[in-house]
Amino acid sequence: MYSPFPYDRISTKSTFFGRDEEIEVLTKTVQYSNNLLIYSKRRMGKSSLIDHFFETKKADTICIYVDIFDITSKEDFAKSLLHGVSNATKGDLKSTIKKLTSLFKRVRVEPTIDPTTFEYSIKPIVATLSFEEMMEDFFYTIRELSKESQVIIAIDEFQQIATITDVKLDALLRKEIQHRENVSYLFLGSKRHLLTSLFEYQAPLYEMATHHELQPLKFEAIQNYVTQYLKIDDEQLRTICELTKYETKMMQNIFHLLWLQKDTTVTKEQIDDTVREIINSKDSSYKIIFDTLNNNQKIALKVMGRYKSGFFTQSVLQEFNIKKQTLQSALDALFKRELIDKDGEYYFIPDRTLELWVERL
Ligand SMILES: Nc1ncnc2c1ncn2[C@@H]1O[C@H](COP(=O)(O)OP(=O)(O)O)[C@@H](O)[C@H]1O
Ligand SMILES: [Mg+2]
Repeated sequence: MYSPFPYDRISTKSTFFGRDEEIEVLTKTVQYSNNLLIYSKRRMGKSSLIDHFFETKKADTICIYVDIFDITSKEDFAKSLLHGVSNATKGDLKSTIKKLTSLFKRVRVEPTIDPTTFEYSIKPIVATLSFEEMMEDFFYTIRELSKESQVIIAIDEFQQIATITDVKLDALLRKEIQHRENVSYLFLGSKRHLLTSLFEYQAPLYEMATHHELQPLKFEAIQNYVTQYLKIDDEQLRTICELTKYETKMMQNIFHLLWLQKDTTVTKEQIDDTVREIINSKDSSYKIIFDTLNNNQKIALKVMGRYKSGFFTQSVLQEFNIKKQTLQSALDALFKRELIDKDGEYYFIPDRTLELWVERL
């Protein structure tokens, strides 16, 4: 059934709201073929924003979207880029394949059907090709395409390139980006520390993109959209925004569940029930994760649930009967496991639902 509040998939045209300022920033960026780095915690709306932006640009621009979330090798990276460019060009399947065949020197392409959506897409065949050969074909194709039309390349979860260490992907990109015309790169990412290190002083990508932190959706924009579908007053809406810390995904999840109970005015009790329902629905998967932690790591997570800062004060250390050094290594381990994140020296749990679950431990 159609819901006006998608929370576990990218929102479509009719369910996307807000973000006027960001669309303007993006429009200006690509207008002058500049590059942009957009970062925020997960679930705030980066991918949705790009998806929506591409919808508005598609008619006169070649929009290439590449998600590198699950790459584990440089070859995966090259394959993702080739897949992105193969499925970006407009036109029917036959002429697209013809065109790609003329542009690619070594890569072959063939049509394939997505078994879940039954939609056609184009698959690059690269089995016998080296990383260098694939990259060469990719960059050559981009250069050729950019002669006839503007090109935008969005690379989502860009921080993942830092996990590939046998080749300097950032240096490779820098070389190409420097010589580009009519091409904009949009880098999206969610892990601040990894991203910052990729764009810091003396790193290859230093000053190659303007930085933009994606802010939470504005209260007014949320209100405008949500009140079209829910009877909810300002106070209750604010309760939801603050409780979720404006995490778009969790807000949408709550709105969706409230929407299912249509035609009643939203009450505080309903909100509490909904939040409990969401946390409970995650309970078993969070428990599985929790069980994989050692004792000190479990304690560290509990400390974070109880206190938002000052973990290393005597009273906290005493309360949990843990040494400062032990707590520090446990936090480091949780950070490596990506269960927690840090902003400077400040540790936090980026998944708001998990944070609320941890607070109940
Ligand atoms: N502007 C928006 N309007 C409506 N829903 C949104 C918007 N931004 C994000 N969402 C919803 O929030 C969820 C998380 O957004 P997503 O784009 O996946 O975030 P990110 O890429 O930052 O992790 C998605 O299910 C999406 O439907
Ligand atoms: Mg995303």
